[in-house]
Amino acid sequence: MKFHSSNLDSLRTLYINQLRTLLSSEQQITEALPKMIEKATDPQLKQAFQSHLQETHTHEARLEHLLQQTAAERKPIKCKVTGAMINVAEDTLKDTGDESVRDVVLIASAQQVEHFEIATYGTVRRFAQILGHADQAQLLDLTIKEEGHFDQLLTEIADRVNPSAQKAA
Ligand SMILES: [Fe+2]
Ligand SMILES: [Fe+2]
Repeated sequence: MKFHSSNLDSLRTLYINQLRTLLSSEQQITEALPKMIEKATDPQLKQAFQSHLQETHTHEARLEHLLQQTAAERKPIKCKVTGAMINVAEDTLKDTGDESVRDVVLIASAQQVEHFEIATYGTVRRFAQILGHADQAQLLDLTIKEEGHFDQLLTEIADRVNPSAQKAA
């Protein structure tokens, strides 16, 4: 699809709104991760959540930086999808007694959020490219790579933790 000045304007608005929604998403993740660190039993999982909390602070700072460069209105727009995913995870955890099964629930919930982040950041990176913000696309790409590494690490931990959850059944 070719973009012209008229629809570029509305794409720019969409881009900014997506950045503001991602900011809300990262803020909600920042609030949720300390609870997940507390609930995790597996030490490697705890450590992975801990380091992703640091990365999430960086993701927030990057979005704030991009909004500062691009937008007059920079307040976050509540990300309902992230909110819903966190609520579902909390409900499922309430129903889960066994520790290793709880770790499995934590990993599954975290990966759901990561996949959503990777997909959404991918879309926004594309918007940045179309709008001619190559530098912004590059910064968004750094975040996508970090989300991807965390997702991969969770898969590795899941491979180790899942069989022990099965034994609890
Ligand atoms: Fe993130
Ligand atoms: Fe993330």
